[in-house]
Amino acid sequence: MLAVDRRKNDFLYQQVIDLIRMEIDSGALRPGDRLPSLRRLAKNLDVSIPTVKQAYEELERQGHVESRPQSGFYVLARIRNALVRPPARASSEPVEVSCRNLVEQVYDGIHQPGVVPLGIANPSMARPAAKALHRTMKRVMARAEQRSVGYAPVAGEPGLQRQLAFRYLDLGGAVRPQEVVVTNGCQEALALALNAVARRGDVVAVESPTYSGTLELIESLGMLALEIETCPTEGLCLDALEHALGQQSIRACVFSSSLNNPLGSATDDDHRQRLVELLESYRVPLIEDDVYGDLRFDGRRGKPAQFFSRRGLVLTAGSFSKTVAPGYRIGWLLPGRFTDQVLKLKRALSYSSGLLQQLTLAEFMGSGEYDRHLRQLRPVLKLNCERMAALVAEHFPANTRISQPAGGSVLWLEMTSNFDSAAYFQRALDAGISVAPGAIFSPGNRYRHFVRLSFGHPWGDRLAQAVRTLGELAST
Ligand SMILES: Cc1ncc(COP(=O)(O)O)c(C=O)c1O
Repeated sequence: MLAVDRRKNDFLYQQVIDLIRMEIDSGALRPGDRLPSLRRLAKNLDVSIPTVKQAYEELERQGHVESRPQSGFYVLARIRNALVRPPARASSEPVEVSCRNLVEQVYDGIHQPGVVPLGIANPSMARPAAKALHRTMKRVMARAEQRSVGYAPVAGEPGLQRQLAFRYLDLGGAVRPQEVVVTNGCQEALALALNAVARRGDVVAVESPTYSGTLELIESLGMLALEIETCPTEGLCLDALEHALGQQSIRACVFSSSLNNPLGSATDDDHRQRLVELLESYRVPLIEDDVYGDLRFDGRRGKPAQFFSRRGLVLTAGSFSKTVAPGYRIGWLLPGRFTDQVLKLKRALSYSSGLLQQLTLAEFMGSGEYDRHLRQLRPVLKLNCERMAALVAEHFPANTRISQPAGGSVLWLEMTSNFDSAAYFQRALDAGISVAPGAIFSPGNRYRHFVRLSFGHPWGDRLAQAVRTLGELAST
């Protein structure tokens, strides 16, 4: 017989949560079961309806139940799926990259009207900052008047360079504003960096799995990619990298320094320091893609790899795309000792980046709104992650393995070895849902049986229903 104890110090809603959890843990309530209606449980426990409602909503936030419109609250499966496995040690050879066609289809799919875009990693959309940014932009336009429609300097608007330099100062590194080059998103920062350190035909080491945009860049520059195993929890495998450095003539590395996309694995300062020491002992430049640095769920923000560099061989790329506004196309590069080459290239390729967006973001950072926004965004992403993982556990085949991201906005799912994610991508798109097929995250086609799903969206029934549909499609 369920009952609350009014003599206890715990809030009543917390006691209701504990009672429901006990019922779930004991198996009395099973996945798919409907919780008692608010009215019925309130009457049975002699508590108010708002108390039960608060408890149910908290249980939903914790990923134990989900609400279905006009129907009630239902028990979700516990996250019982095994973790995605560390990659098998493969003896890699550098390969030409040819992922463009599939990547093109994925991006076409994302932008089709009406499609649920689970194929794009767009964390900022989980809690859009549009209103605050528009307010800031209005202020900036009023103040800057004609200047706001002019060209920005090649290296960037000094106010934004300063704000970015301050931020690095907070992280414990001395970066001067003139050492920051503002770019058109992180993608241009990576392109400038790669152009500055390597040539056509050179071998570039990448994580395995790695972000498809890095592979497209390597493909478009006629370079070769060498995959380095990356662990789903601990990040790039340094032993595998050391082995590869001994075997191959690697011209440069492009690694995500903080959070890997698609794995969501995070590394700590110690790992980054050992990485930089290893690479600089071989005189190999590191391009660190730090685009997810501010989006660890726990808010911990390690030092960029560049801070451990003694030879100036680390180039750090970042962006506002994942945190606030992908459409502004504002990123940056700290080019280390390659600043001159990078500035020449930037001038030749795009001259400079949008001034109004730079002024707006500088003000957004300077006023403290950027940090406030991040503090609100991270818990939303974490909650979305838990909700999506719970739905995957409930609706995907039982042997689906799942990543446990430390931040960012994507889940990486490992299906059975005969699963064809390219065909699945097409079937999902036919059902109005875009997913990212695993094949685009490896030049050697190692992840054909993986799928990446994005939880960087405002949570809602449409999203939850899309995950259920994907589960059904994966089961047939
Ligand atoms: C790991 C990684 N690096 C870089 C980018 C590109 O960022 P931006 O939109 O700022 O060009 C992305 C975008 O998906 C990404 O996931």
